[in-house]
Amino acid sequence: MRAVTGRPVARGASMALRGVSKTYATGLQALAPTDLTLAAGEFVTIVGPSGCGKSTLLRILAGLVEPSGGTVDRPGATATGFVFQEAALLPWRTVLRNAELLMELEGCRGPDCTPRAREALQLVGLAGFEASYPHQLSGGMRMRLSLARALALRPALLLLDEPLAAVDELTRDVLQEELSALWQQSGFTGAMVTHNVHEAAFLSTRIVVMSARPGRIVEVVDVPFAFPRAPELRATPEFAELTGRVTAALRRKAVAEAAA
Ligand SMILES: Nc1ncnc2c1ncn2[C@@H]1O[C@H](COP(=O)(O)OP(=O)(O)OP(=O)(O)O)[C@@H](O)[C@H]1O
Ligand SMILES: [Mg+2]
Repeated sequence: MRAVTGRPVARGASMALRGVSKTYATGLQALAPTDLTLAAGEFVTIVGPSGCGKSTLLRILAGLVEPSGGTVDRPGATATGFVFQEAALLPWRTVLRNAELLMELEGCRGPDCTPRAREALQLVGLAGFEASYPHQLSGGMRMRLSLARALALRPALLLLDEPLAAVDELTRDVLQEELSALWQQSGFTGAMVTHNVHEAAFLSTRIVVMSARPGRIVEVVDVPFAFPRAPELRATPEFAELTGRVTAALRRKAVAEAAA
């Protein structure tokens, strides 16, 4: 296996959250003051119980939600791609026109953006489906299209909110391998929310474990496996040891909270 340092030079963005918290207008505190640093080119996953503020944290990283307190350091004009749990495609647009959507919102039109959309579709294995409509795609293909739409922005920061939750386990494994390869090729900084500890261990350089609401980071686990990661990694004792450790951290929190 190639070492992590063997990756193409990262052109990803670095980011730092310092004491960032979020209380929504309803008065609900979703996120307690939180520190999180993303180094350029790393891939961090965020795990934690439902409702603990993972999506809130991701939306703050994206600049989609304004924090109530703390500071967010990010380089200005960072191209940011966001992949939502629901593919959120426009049913009346073809695959190609869906892939162009986020670039269009950024003011990019026609000859400037169509080749980039085609290239992104090629990257995710959807070449040949440009003229199809979303309803003609499988769930896994729709997810790939949603990823292509974000990749077409050539993001320095790619944020993914449980993008693989709706696909079957086998497809999920394949998509994880493809996503990891794309990240290694492209060098973006990635942050992804997932409920799946195995997915977190396979994809990321670090796993951020959060507590129940209001969310706090209770543990950060370094994932030492070199890239590229072979599918067989999932069957190794080292992998089982790491996923066991993350699961134990999640459970410790849950048990402590139930007892409190
Ligand atoms: N726009 C909003 N206004 C008010 N409350 C919100 C808003 N968005 C989220 N919340 C609340 O903040 C808390 C954290 O929500 P968030 O979506 O960040 O959790 P999550 O960890 O992503 O959960 P899940 O794993 O179920 O997706 C929840 O209690 C939710 O009801
Ligand atoms: Mg969520």
